[in-house]
Amino acid sequence: MSKALEKPLRWGILAPGGIAKCFVGDLLLPEDADVRANHKVVAVGSRTMAKAEVFVKEVFEGREGLQRDIKCYGDYASLLSDDQVDIVYVASPQSHHFGQAKACLVAGKHVLCEKPLTINAAQTEELVKIAREKKLFFMEARWTKFFPLLQEVRTLVHDKKILGDLVRVNSDFGEAFPHDHRLYDAALGGGCLLDLGIYSLTWISALLWDSPENKRAAPRISSSLLMDKTGTVDETTTAILQFDKIKATAVLSASLRVDLHRPGYHTIIQGTKGDLTIHGKHTSKPLAYTLHLKDQPPKRVEPKILGWGMRYEADECALRIAEGAVESPTMDHAESVFAMQVLDTIRKQNNFSFSAEIESLDSGL
Ligand SMILES: NC(=O)c1ccc[n+]([C@@H]2O[C@H](COP(=O)([O-])OP(=O)(O)OC[C@H]3O[C@@H](n4cnc5c(N)ncnc54)[C@H](OP(=O)(O)O)[C@@H]3O)[C@@H](O)[C@H]2O)c1
Repeated sequence: MSKALEKPLRWGILAPGGIAKCFVGDLLLPEDADVRANHKVVAVGSRTMAKAEVFVKEVFEGREGLQRDIKCYGDYASLLSDDQVDIVYVASPQSHHFGQAKACLVAGKHVLCEKPLTINAAQTEELVKIAREKKLFFMEARWTKFFPLLQEVRTLVHDKKILGDLVRVNSDFGEAFPHDHRLYDAALGGGCLLDLGIYSLTWISALLWDSPENKRAAPRISSSLLMDKTGTVDETTTAILQFDKIKATAVLSASLRVDLHRPGYHTIIQGTKGDLTIHGKHTSKPLAYTLHLKDQPPKRVEPKILGWGMRYEADECALRIAEGAVESPTMDHAESVFAMQVLDTIRKQNNFSFSAEIESLDSGL
């Protein structure tokens, strides 16, 4: 670890829910050869003080000896005026990301914001503009992009051309959620496309959109959404993305109705020399891959994962902030804008919009 990074990056956690618990757990991981930076959680802001306190208690349960001097706030505004906080992790539902991330940036904080970054591309573009103007680091918490496995697969496929020319990428995320889950709530930006489909898109973007030959040329898109029984959120969604420049096709699929029961794979990358399948229960969290080259036995690789897998993105924030960057080259602003444009296009093709309130550029904290 470099001298600059021995000084911990000081985190404020905004909206301590399910994913925030996983994230903070990874910030507290002990020293490890793969750890690249130091972190300290200095404050937690919830809509209610009791929730902030319960969160801190739960996160530190069984972790005796770790730092405990964490400030709890019963509102988000107080978290943003805490001058001990360098960076805010925004972990609320996507309906609230835009207003909250904007308030963090306006308050002079660096921001790591959960995926999908916002509800639409216009909101993402506005946040990028503010971050750049204020010279603050701003990144979508698309943790999958930082997994060593994804990086390794990109090296094999893009640099070593192990699959030959890429022809198809199919990526699917299915998880059955109960109807009372936030994903069935349109007011919280629910539906499978924004929440799960963004991970299918992550693999497609990393492998086709961002390939050395495609050079981020936009795909043609056709799509279909099946709405849930109330007609308010998309429940099963499929889109075809045609990358004309490299003559490759991708299928993005997601569903809130069925689990991904594929011990085989959730993503398959097919090229002229063979294919590579990515395994894992969740498309967001790759656990292993298998390379099948023509006339060769399959080769399965299971790289080690640090903690839950969220430490990589946190370390990236610390490294980039230490060098004064406003974005990460691994999950840059252009990729977040591209993702939101794809999701906007799919929603538009299927007449699916959220309330004016959460689609607007006016919301605040
Ligand atoms: N990276 C990943 O793998 C991953 C996995 C799951 C979710 N996510 C993303 O992370 C975000 C949070 O998801 P989650 O599953 O952690 O959600 P969650 O458990 O429901 O937590 C969200 C938190 O947001 C706060 N909140 C603020 N306004 C709210 C409102 N109007 N309704 C409900 N909660 C509100 C609540 O905290 P307070 O009341 O304490 O303020 C709540 O605990 C989503 O954008 C989701 O897409 C990412």
